[in-house]
Amino acid sequence: MVYLWNCFIRMARVKARLIALKAHLIRKIKAGSFESPTCAFLDTKLKTLNLRYHTFARALKLIQDRKLERIIETGTSRFGGTNCAGDGCSSLIFTDYINNYGGKFYSVDIDKQALLNAQRDLKPGFKNAHFICSDSVEFLHNFSESIDFLYLDSYDFEVTNPLASQKHHLLEVQAAYSKLHKNSVIMIDDCMLPRGGKGKLAIDFLIKKGWRILIKGYQVILVQN
Ligand SMILES: C[S@@+](CC[C@H](N)C(=O)[O-])C[C@H]1O[C@@H](n2cnc3c(N)ncnc32)[C@H](O)[C@@H]1O
Repeated sequence: MVYLWNCFIRMARVKARLIALKAHLIRKIKAGSFESPTCAFLDTKLKTLNLRYHTFARALKLIQDRKLERIIETGTSRFGGTNCAGDGCSSLIFTDYINNYGGKFYSVDIDKQALLNAQRDLKPGFKNAHFICSDSVEFLHNFSESIDFLYLDSYDFEVTNPLASQKHHLLEVQAAYSKLHKNSVIMIDDCMLPRGGKGKLAIDFLIKKGWRILIKGYQVILVQN
């Protein structure tokens, strides 16, 4: 009888712990969740399971909350809206966002065809989106306005030669640096690749300058405050 009673007590304790754990997990999920701005392109072309979906959604939310106006990206959606799972379709996502909420978007790419492909697949009548053919470092050096949101996704990363891409992304951050401000946000693509991916050197540089990683996933988001 005593044995059965002890079993009953133990089971009751386990059940109570499981209920507490469930409540804790629900609280954590709710605390981390947020309502992201409407972006039809993100929601239709990138499934929630896509490795970039949640970081793009967080980026749009940061742009909205911080009232960021000027979005610059290096590396245009070279296949237009047709390779969202592979590349991310950032140009279409950001253009969609500024069409809904305002702001200005600049996308720079060294390949003219990439720029044409991205523009081909934008919603007709898009405005305030500029597509510039240039080397990204040169473009950022010459850019004369402040940069609110900087998205780096240009020079392709190769596992056999990681430094080439990493150095290029470092040069991009350095070229843009004087145009960034306390409230600016930087997002870097392809960071969850061997040897730190595209962002390794750029992130090391930013951390030395006092920036911190806000979100670390396949894409990394950095802020100063
Ligand atoms: C991965 S794709 C960009 C994908 C795009 N961000 C998206 O989400 O769909 C990389 C692009 O960077 C461009 N690129 C490579 N080197 C560059 C450079 N030095 N300056 C500007 N663009 C460059 C390539 O032409 C290519 O279109």
